[in-house]
Amino acid sequence: MSVRNLLAGLALSATIAAPALAAEPLAGDPQHGLEIYKHICSLCHSNKKGVIVIGPPLYGAYGRKVASYPGYHYSEALKAKDWTWDVPHLLIWEAGARKMVPGTKMSFPGLKNPKDRQDIIAYLQTLHD
Ligand code: HEC
Repeated sequence: MSVRNLLAGLALSATIAAPALAAEPLAGDPQHGLEIYKHICSLCHSNKKGVIVIGPPLYGAYGRKVASYPGYHYSEALKAKDWTWDVPHLLIWEAGARKMVPGTKMSFPGLKNPKDRQDIIAYLQTLHD
C-alpha cells in the first residue's frame, strides 16, 4: 500500500471512529461503577483531572488514545498499541489487562462479572468535562 493510500485510509477511519464512539450504547450502571472504582481502581488510579497515582488518571480515559496521558510513564507494551479507549476495548481490558496486553504494568487481574465490566465503563464515561 502506498503512503498516500495509507494516509487516506487513516483519515477515513478517524472520521468514522469519532461519531461511533459517542453513539455507543451501554447498559451499565454508573452508580455501581463508582463503587467498583472506589473499591478497586482507586488503589492505583485517580478519578480527578491531572492526578497521577500508580496508574494514569481515569478522568478523560474514555475516548483517549491508548497510552497517551502526558507525563505518565507507560509500559513499552501498552505504548506499542494503537487504539482509542472505547467500549469494545475497555470490555476486553477490564476482563484481564495482561491477557489483552502481555507486559502491561496494570497488574489488576480483571473483573470476573460481565455486568461489573459494563458498570465500570458506564462510570468512566461520566469522567469527562
Ligand atoms: C494495581 C494497580 C491498578 C489497579 C487496581 C487498576 N489499574 Fe488500571 N492501570 C494501572 C497501571 C500501572 C496502568 C498503566 C499500564 C501500562 O503502562 O502498561 C493502568 C492503565 C489503565 C488504563 C489505560 C489508560 C491509558 O491512558 O491508556 C485504563 C483504562 C485503566 N487502567 C483502567 C482501570 C480500571 C477501570 C480499574 C478498576 C477496575 C483499574 N484500571 C485498576 C494500574 C492499576
